[in-house]
Amino acid sequence: MFPGVDANRNIRNIALTGFMGCGKTSVGRVVAKVAGFEFLDTDQFIEEHVGKSIPRIFEEHGEETFRRYEREVVVRLAERENAVIATGGGLLVDAENMDTMKQYAMVFCLWASPESIWRRVKDKSHRPLLQTENPKQRIIDLLEERKPAYGRSDMLINTEYRSARDVANLILGQFRQTTRKAK
Ligand code: S3P
Repeated sequence: MFPGVDANRNIRNIALTGFMGCGKTSVGRVVAKVAGFEFLDTDQFIEEHVGKSIPRIFEEHGEETFRRYEREVVVRLAERENAVIATGGGLLVDAENMDTMKQYAMVFCLWASPESIWRRVKDKSHRPLLQTENPKQRIIDLLEERKPAYGRSDMLINTEYRSARDVANLILGQFRQTTRKAK
């Protein structure tokens, strides 16, 4: 057994977590393409099922309801195989979601400094949590608050000086090594 991997886990998918703007979707798409896996995005999954955009869900139903939808998605995706699951940046902050996801996926956390995140998200307006007076400070605070949760991922990857392709290769290398040794 690969060191650190719980024998009770049945890893057959790849999950990506990490803060908004760290490249989960772009990296996830590359990983899925190279591995021949299906690509899933939890935000998109929720939007399709609820029939509303994430900003509208936040606006009309509030963050609590959105988090409930996220918990439902984690349970619903448990039957998947060979999927790359890009999660919304807050989904695996919930300890129970992380535990459940780890049962069926190897979890990779993409990391970047608050400064790079700010550069990547500042011109985009579709993230309700950053619609505040001081979004830069909000990024610093949220990132600090979420550090312990993100730290529970199987692997943390700094994306600052790596292309999406390089990050994807790291993920696939680790996933293949782990799933091979876990058999
Ligand atoms: C959120 C991140 C967003 C989206 C929602 C909440 C968060 O997804 O799920 O706006 O709590 O960090 P991305 O990380 O894909 O931007």
